[in-house]
Amino acid sequence: MDTTLRQPKFESLPAQDPAAEAHHRIANSLTLLVSMVRMKATSIARQPDPPSTAEVRLLLDGIGARINTIAHLHRLLSHAPFEGETELLPHLKEVTDALVSALASPEQQVQVIHSGQGAMVRTRQVQPLVLILCEVFINAMKYARPDGGQVILCVECGPGVDGRLRVSVSDNGGGLPDGLDPRTASGLGFRVMRSLAAEIDAELHFESSPRGFGVHLALPVRRN
Ligand SMILES: Nc1ncnc2c1ncn2[C@@H]1O[C@H](COP(=O)(O)OP(=O)(O)OP(=O)(O)O)[C@@H](O)[C@H]1O
Ligand SMILES: [Mg+2]
Repeated sequence: MDTTLRQPKFESLPAQDPAAEAHHRIANSLTLLVSMVRMKATSIARQPDPPSTAEVRLLLDGIGARINTIAHLHRLLSHAPFEGETELLPHLKEVTDALVSALASPEQQVQVIHSGQGAMVRTRQVQPLVLILCEVFINAMKYARPDGGQVILCVECGPGVDGRLRVSVSDNGGGLPDGLDPRTASGLGFRVMRSLAAEIDAELHFESSPRGFGVHLALPVRRN
């Protein structure tokens, strides 16, 4: 059974044919999604007990949210040349709003606070970046506030002092369980985050405390 994230082959994009490029992008996204769903199916099959109705609901909501995010991104990026650059902040706002409406419920309220300033990012980095945020959001909804309190997610982006683009998301939960190291954890979410960060050469840094959990990304913005 396939347990690795199937990564799209960005370098083989057909040049200067917008329709072919769009088809190629969508095919890559679907491959990635299928790979994530298969990995999830494999991990469920390994669980000793069948999932509860609530777990199945969360699982399907999570899959729906990822599909919705990718569909949303394709609409947003439909006019952006794949090898060009694009402004990140508006995409982040739109996509996180869509994620919250896909995941929030009367039982689990969510608020997203955006801060930072505009920053250009390579168009090809946007999808992996947003999918990392998708995993962070889904986790925050599932784990940050088991008491049912409002989940507050702070999304911050802007250029760092070293010239790299910084993107951070932090929640207001109680942090990771003791002993869980997200740099090596085998859960699908952290594996997807690590794999997609490597794909776009982003440095991934995690911060956990009793005041919450944060994921920080630093990524190169210009070709050398
Ligand atoms: N924001 C968070 N607050 C508290 N604990 C968290 C948070 N995010 C993740 N965790 C913990 O880290 C574990 C691993 O997360 P990961 O996303 O890798 O797997 P998962 O969410 O359990 O499964 P999947 O992502 O496949 O649905 C979670 O089971 C949870 O215990
Ligand atoms: Mg997860």
